[in-house]
Amino acid sequence: MSDLRLAELDADNLPAVIQIPPAVGEKAYVAPVAYSIAEAYVTPTAWPRVILDGDAVVGFVMANWDPDNEIPAFRGGIWRLNIADDAKGRGVGRFAVEEVAAEARRRGYDEITVLWNPAPDGPEGFYLRVGFQKTGELFGETIGTRRV
Ligand SMILES: CC(C)(COP(=O)(O)OP(=O)(O)OC[C@H]1O[C@@H](n2cnc3c(N)ncnc32)[C@H](O)[C@@H]1OP(=O)(O)O)[C@@H](O)C(=O)NCCC(=O)NCCS
Repeated sequence: MSDLRLAELDADNLPAVIQIPPAVGEKAYVAPVAYSIAEAYVTPTAWPRVILDGDAVVGFVMANWDPDNEIPAFRGGIWRLNIADDAKGRGVGRFAVEEVAAEARRRGYDEITVLWNPAPDGPEGFYLRVGFQKTGELFGETIGTRRV
């Protein structure tokens, strides 16, 4: 049984959230959560959320809502997504995508975007599985777009 929900960052969940891989300095296709939280602190359009299963921290997702951005791929969608190793493969990532899609609908968006590294061992298979289609490239990354 899972009881998934999103929560805002707070002093209670922060210590567990920043333990989610990758560690600072580790080579990975996504930034460490501590780095994302620092970016959120200086980016007013960032929307960072902790993913909880009951009271357990199982992931971190950060969206960005910036409808006037000159780059269409940066107007609204998933900026970061990190699932705890022991929570992978049981629908937590899909839940986070659906929650971002729901927030996008509330904000009046028709679609959301995400950028991913196209490496074979990267997250491309996941994003295609949860409804994104490849719609371009930017800075060597693949742009994925999904209707909401
Ligand atoms: C990629 C990641 C977010 C997936 O999260 P997850 O919780 O393990 O994924 P889910 O269990 O919700 O999977 C949803 C579907 O995608 C599929 N899937 C998950 N990872 C996949 C992959 N690497 N390749 C192909 N399909 C994949 C699942 O089989 C599942 O399919 P189903 O619904 O038919 O059963 C997670 O593995 C992760 O945090 N990876 C490291 C960080 C990263 O790459 N983040 C994204 C950066 S943009």
